[in-house]
Amino acid sequence: MTKTVLAFAASNSANSINRKLVEHAARTFKADFMPDVVIETLDLNDYEMPIYSQAREQESGIPAKAQAFYDKIGEADGLMIAFAEHNGSYAAAYKNIFDWMSRIKMAVYQDKPTAFFATSPGPRGGQKVLGFAVMTAPFFGAKVVGSQSIAGFGERFNDATGGLTHDDDVEAMNAVLRAMGEAMSADGESLNAAA
Ligand SMILES: Cc1cc2nc3c(=O)[nH]c(=O)nc-3n(C[C@H](O)[C@H](O)[C@H](O)COP(=O)(O)O)c2cc1C
Repeated sequence: MTKTVLAFAASNSANSINRKLVEHAARTFKADFMPDVVIETLDLNDYEMPIYSQAREQESGIPAKAQAFYDKIGEADGLMIAFAEHNGSYAAAYKNIFDWMSRIKMAVYQDKPTAFFATSPGPRGGQKVLGFAVMTAPFFGAKVVGSQSIAGFGERFNDATGGLTHDDDVEAMNAVLRAMGEAMSADGESLNAAA
């Protein structure tokens, strides 16, 4: 049966470097690790909705766009997410979608094998938001197969060739993608065995 990966940047920037990174990871996964996989991408700008509040939830329930995003996660066999770091944390655009989805079910990521990425133009590569995402993953139903931060995106990613320019980054990404392939092929068995 065909497997699908849902890949998106947790950013609403039109020129998101995290989108470039996650779409590169997804392309590499299909090219080198799982040729039959179907890659689906999402743009957070298609899921803009009112800022979460309990009053809004009581008045109007869960917005259809939050349910639609949650359903996209549910339909996928694996997730690849690259987080923009804003002041050490999630970009507000993603936090809002996430908060709404968590009201459907706290296990937002629905027990999917998940690879987390983050990048920034600076020297820290979004490590804070990435670390937070990994640390809290068990609360939100993400089975994290691996994570990778790329610091100094402008120097370590070439738009023209569409890829990573440093061997150590390539190797680290391949390790994450290999683990993703194994987790998806085993339908979660290998993850359960490793736990
Ligand atoms: C409001 C705001 C806060 C930011 N805070 C951080 C930060 O805490 N750490 C960091 O590495 N970069 C920070 N940046 C820079 C982002 O890493 C940079 O804008 C990056 O391009 C965001 O990823 P994106 O292009 O995928 O949206 C911040 C940018 C903005 C606009």
